[in-house]
Amino acid sequence: MSKTTSKKTSKKTSGKASGKTSGNASDIKIGVAGLGHRGRWWVQLLQRIPGYRITALYDFIEPLLEQTLALIPYRDEVRTFTDYDEFLKFKEMEAVALTVRRKDQGALAAKALEAGKHVNAEVPAAHTIEDCWRIVLAAERTGKVYQLAEQVRYAGFTMAWQDLVARGELGKVTYCEGQYIGYYGTRQFFQDFGTGTFHTIEELKDHPQAKPTWLHEMPPIHYVVHDLSPLMKILDDRPARVVAMGTRRPSYTHPEIGQPDIQVALVQMGKDTVVRLATGFMQPGPHDDHHWWQCIGTKGRVQWRRAKSERPAMWQADRQMHELAAVDWRLERADAPDASRSTGHGDTDYYVQASFRDALRGGPPVELDAYGAAQIAATGILAADSLDQGSRPIDIPDFRPGPGRAKGKAPAGISL
Ligand SMILES: NC(=O)c1ccc[n+]([C@@H]2O[C@H](COP(=O)([O-])OP(=O)(O)OC[C@H]3O[C@@H](n4cnc5c(N)ncnc54)[C@H](O)[C@@H]3O)[C@@H](O)[C@H]2O)c1
Repeated sequence: MSKTTSKKTSKKTSGKASGKTSGNASDIKIGVAGLGHRGRWWVQLLQRIPGYRITALYDFIEPLLEQTLALIPYRDEVRTFTDYDEFLKFKEMEAVALTVRRKDQGALAAKALEAGKHVNAEVPAAHTIEDCWRIVLAAERTGKVYQLAEQVRYAGFTMAWQDLVARGELGKVTYCEGQYIGYYGTRQFFQDFGTGTFHTIEELKDHPQAKPTWLHEMPPIHYVVHDLSPLMKILDDRPARVVAMGTRRPSYTHPEIGQPDIQVALVQMGKDTVVRLATGFMQPGPHDDHHWWQCIGTKGRVQWRRAKSERPAMWQADRQMHELAAVDWRLERADAPDASRSTGHGDTDYYVQASFRDALRGGPPVELDAYGAAQIAATGILAADSLDQGSRPIDIPDFRPGPGRAKGKAPAGISL
């Protein structure tokens, strides 16, 4: 079912026929597409963080529109849409916050750029290599801002490790790990697309209308983003080659779930660091610390905590250290502004909204642009391809323009 081809029409939520909005003249007029858990959280953040005005909402599940409008005090000034093409035609919207969870989320982002909108997209950026290229080419051809809203790259520990590596304190970093091994439960895997309600496996007998979501099909390794993005920043490098292994489909934990329990990728970075990435969302375990990162260099190493009762740690070869020493690195930053408090994920959700806003208003360009986003998404996509092809190593394209590809031109073999 392609939701973008819905023939339902858009509608205003009140008698404001013009669709004109108030708010500060300099506010970014933004529409939120995809009104699930994350979209509704973004709607709240976009009202708390200065500089935004929500002008439109889009989801193909109609009841979610009303649930989301209820979160906006100026709801009468917000237009709602159930058709993506109509949503993109709305003139009182310069940017799209894309918070869908769909196989075609990359195509939806590219379509928004092609329609002349800036895009702040939730992770992961895309699920096909063609969609990675479509985002890159649309950003290049339109000049519109695309940001992948990956937030761990703004975390306190990421900033500290980036600084240590840049100053040579760890020597040559030869090996890194990043993993997201957790347990989603089964609720997100079955949804009633009429109401938007999710159901667990146990609830299915009373809700036969609930259908499998995209998560059944999505290879977990497509979700390397929160682990690879900070490592790319710390190493100032890009993934160049990938090989992967994983367990069978369906899940051992819940055979009703189509996903494998674990997928692991080994990545060779361009400047010769080996990175192990692992993802699995059906692995029961301690709830909180499902992420883990470490960097090992020729002169030292840093690692994230293994449990909430522990601290991250560091060791340096030339500092008379016999053991790793605990360091109070957190997701939260020591230099966090008040506006970032309680925005989510150790306050890091703030930075992706602030950086997108600032880039649109003449500030520094976004960190994780179309090139970086495509590089990360392609790593996950090609890792899954490697798995399907008997763990064959696969080269990851460099999405930046260069001698082999002019800006705005599709590479050989891609007709876009
Ligand atoms: N950055 C983070 O920390 C973080 C955390 C959780 C989720 N996410 C990402 O946020 C996104 C949303 O996650 P979620 O948990 O809110 O998912 P969700 O399933 O609760 O919501 C997704 C929404 O998108 C809508 N949707 C999907 N495809 C659509 C289409 N083609 N047209 C119209 N509507 C469509 C669905 O109706 C649903 O309401 C995902 O991409 C996920 O990976 C990021």
